[in-house]
Amino acid sequence: MSDLSVTRLTGAVGAEISGVDLNRISDSQFETLCDTLFRRGVVVLRDQDFSPEAHIALAERFGEIDVNRFFTPVAAHPMIAEVRTRAEQNTVIGGTWHSDHSYDPEPAMASILVARELPPYGGDTLFASMTAACAGLSEGLRDTLSGLSAWHTDGSFARSEFDMGKDAAAFRPPSLHPVLIRHPETGERAVYVNGDFTTRFDGWSEEESRPLLEYLYRAVTQPQYCCRVRWTPGSVGIWDNRTVQHFATADYQGHARLMHRITVKGQALER
Ligand code: SIN
Repeated sequence: MSDLSVTRLTGAVGAEISGVDLNRISDSQFETLCDTLFRRGVVVLRDQDFSPEAHIALAERFGEIDVNRFFTPVAAHPMIAEVRTRAEQNTVIGGTWHSDHSYDPEPAMASILVARELPPYGGDTLFASMTAACAGLSEGLRDTLSGLSAWHTDGSFARSEFDMGKDAAAFRPPSLHPVLIRHPETGERAVYVNGDFTTRFDGWSEEESRPLLEYLYRAVTQPQYCCRVRWTPGSVGIWDNRTVQHFATADYQGHARLMHRITVKGQALER
């Protein structure tokens, strides 16, 4: 393969990395990949011949695998979650802005998504940079948010159209995180509330929290903070859940889509 190169996807977020075979990634290439991931939020590598075993091996290079307790596991590879849309379904898993596992006390640091079966068009994933969005807030609002924490819950899985909440034992108590977190590697500040899992600010009622949370959900997903990843056969996408939120697009009705996802264990988040 040729030398590693990094191309930005948009001004705020995302990068494509070429010149790397993920089956044989060297230590220095892995270091560049991590650095790009932490600074750009999401990286995409194309044309990878990537088996489930290689997927697990790459995830373990980042850290311990954090198996999602709501997703259907891939048969024979229970560490991998299946993100499947059947042709007859009109909605998709992950079809709203969110950050994976924010309901956990130590949310997943990264997610690694591999395209296994793609529709003939559509099914792109959007990513929004929470560091760019944080920098775009007024100083006054940032100051207010910097003293706040918010509760996150896995309760939305109970309403899943995909029967993801079938196992009552999977649900856990809510977790509290700072509203503005500091990225553990880069020190950059990022907004850490999302529409799927955040319920309220600590010390505020849900009713009191709703207007400001809804303002934030709109503000942080403005187009200038986003990129759009078009999946092609052999694409592998890796994102940092502390830095980005993502959104799976439901625009391929009548066609199936299958992705394999591994989430990597993270740490408690600090302000
Ligand atoms: C997810 O929310 O992790 C799924 C993203 C996708 O299927 O594009």
